Amino acid sequence: MQTYLHGRDFIGDLDFSKEEVETVLDVAFDLKRKRALNEPHPYLRDKALAMLFFFSSTRTRGSFEAGMAQLGGHAAFIESQTTQIAHGDTPKEIGEIFGRYFDGIAIRHCDWNVGNGYLNAVAKASRVPVLNMQCDVYHPFQCLADLMTIIEKKGRDLRRKRIVVSWAYAASYLKPISVPQSLILQMPRFGLDVVLAHPPEFELMPEIVSLAQEQARKFKTGFEIIRDPNGMEAAFTDADIIYAKSWGPLLTTNDKAEGKKIQDLYKAWITDERKLALARPDAIYMHPLPADRNIEVTDGIIDGPQSVVYDEAENRLHVQKAVMALTM
Ligand code: CP
Repeated sequence: MQTYLHGRDFIGDLDFSKEEVETVLDVAFDLKRKRALNEPHPYLRDKALAMLFFFSSTRTRGSFEAGMAQLGGHAAFIESQTTQIAHGDTPKEIGEIFGRYFDGIAIRHCDWNVGNGYLNAVAKASRVPVLNMQCDVYHPFQCLADLMTIIEKKGRDLRRKRIVVSWAYAASYLKPISVPQSLILQMPRFGLDVVLAHPPEFELMPEIVSLAQEQARKFKTGFEIIRDPNGMEAAFTDADIIYAKSWGPLLTTNDKAEGKKIQDLYKAWITDERKLALARPDAIYMHPLPADRNIEVTDGIIDGPQSVVYDEAENRLHVQKAVMALTM
């Protein structure tokens, strides 16, 4: 077990080795137990976290803010539009200056082709850890919470269990590709066979897919891609874990109206009772939320006995506290 993570950034899923992720999970389970027992755990007393948001959030903001309070510190919510960023504060200013005020800088910046570069530029100038609250490429804390949830539901030995990372239709907006990209990178390291399914226009970044395939080879797990306009049913068949969410056709078009037109071709990609019945009887349904109810997934599934979406949301709190306690 690798336990020294002090001062480390967490921007990409593979920034921490498998052993380091195991340490994070170990600490997260301990913190979850301590919270259940109302045991104080002020590992970050007198420390402060900057939370810089360029995009809206329910879970990420709430869990980081509550998490810092439970660790004895403080989290400052900073909405980018209320800062001087539009008037000239560059990522260097943010890294240099916030790095002198705060003990960690957490950032959410999901703009396509911008977010990840922004986080790395802040990290370059910062003397304190930079934590990725979601960018255009990765959503690593969501993925850690998902992994913790899968272990809780399916046990530690995940070999030969099949996780389906599937595209789903949504009407609300063209969602980032960061969640599926994080999942396909991290899950092979913990033994899961990955099935990635999407219509042809919804490719993920080729370099991320290659990296994920390399992880699958290294950890001797399965990795299958279904690029079929009607591929959702085939992907769901015999799955242990269904992780079906929407993302935009960002590698096909940058135009929102054209993207929406492409997306609207695939309204049949909804997780419903008929499709979930193709999975194993004890399969779990996962989604990071927010979901477009009765468009991405039926109420019956998301509120049903196979859904673990609220456990996933809860586990954001525990994994984030673990990473903050270890890095800050
Ligand atoms: N899953 C997730 O990141 O939720 P929020 O967008 O509400 O933070």
